[in-house]
Amino acid sequence: MKEQLNGIRVKAQEELSTVGSISELENIRVKFLGKKGELTSVLRGMGALTAEDRPVIGQLANEVRSFIEGKLEEAKKELMKKEIGLKLEKEVIDVTMPGKRKMLGKKHPLSNVIDEINEVFIGMGYEIAEGPEVEKDYYNFEALNMPENHPAKDVQDTFYISENIILRTQTSPVQIRVMENKKPPIKIICPGRVYRSDAVDATHSPIFHQVEGLVVDKGVTMGDLIGTLKVFAKSLFGEKTDIRLRPHHFPFTEPSAEVDVSCWTCGGSGCRVCKGEGWIEILGAGMVHPKVLEKCGIDPSVYSGFAFGLGVERTAMGRFNIDDLRLLYENDVRFLKQF
Ligand code: DAH
Repeated sequence: MKEQLNGIRVKAQEELSTVGSISELENIRVKFLGKKGELTSVLRGMGALTAEDRPVIGQLANEVRSFIEGKLEEAKKELMKKEIGLKLEKEVIDVTMPGKRKMLGKKHPLSNVIDEINEVFIGMGYEIAEGPEVEKDYYNFEALNMPENHPAKDVQDTFYISENIILRTQTSPVQIRVMENKKPPIKIICPGRVYRSDAVDATHSPIFHQVEGLVVDKGVTMGDLIGTLKVFAKSLFGEKTDIRLRPHHFPFTEPSAEVDVSCWTCGGSGCRVCKGEGWIEILGAGMVHPKVLEKCGIDPSVYSGFAFGLGVERTAMGRFNIDDLRLLYENDVRFLKQF
């Protein structure tokens, strides 16, 4: 029995000397000291010993047990030290490593164009006005001299909230809201979002942006309108830019015109961008219709005014040479990064 016990001690020591992990260590403990372990099964045979041998073997068994327990404890400490060391090594922070760059967003090209337009007009003494995007039919159409069944309503089909409440098709209703609340002199621009039930394609979107302008005072003339638009066109598209007016019809202005700027790419000689025309249409304008002034309680025999409405998307597409309007709404970072 003595040999058996000594054998167990030697075997345990051997196995413990090559142990590589805490879980292996536990296996060794069970193998030697567990209920069905080797030491326990030797002790079970003690009943067959003589009275003199029993205490001797008993003492030896205790020695072997505490020897193995001691070795297990030692090995455990050693393994834990090693594991902590490895962990520290793995998790070391290199403070000299370059940091991860956060991507910084920036202003959308449409917002940039709106800001630029605002700045030009603020520089000329204009104030910024705002109006609701969910608008009454009255302000969007009727007060602008487009009564029910007026054919001009057809090309501005929109989204109806109810019979009399719609998503505004133009920023022109802000003209009415301003004139109802403020007496001349009036000098405002209104940048904003407008809606039409158009299908999406390269040049149409059901949501787009306009900038409206309105000036009402005594003695305002078409000459003032043309001068103002010239300053605007030169500021936005360059000093060499010229404008031209073509007669047109808008129900809320009289006379009315469509306004072109000389092509920002070829300067007027004709190219792909202006489709050989030399000119590009960017806005509608005219002298405020007397009926509109009257509706707002402004006497047209005393006051006159001009108004204009500009398409922001069209202007941005021109400025940045963008050939598909959808690019402005998809918010693909690869596209937006370029501006
Ligand atoms: N609201 C018009 C449109 O969306 C544009 C326009 C034309 C605005 C003439 C004006 C104007 O203020 O005088 O088609």
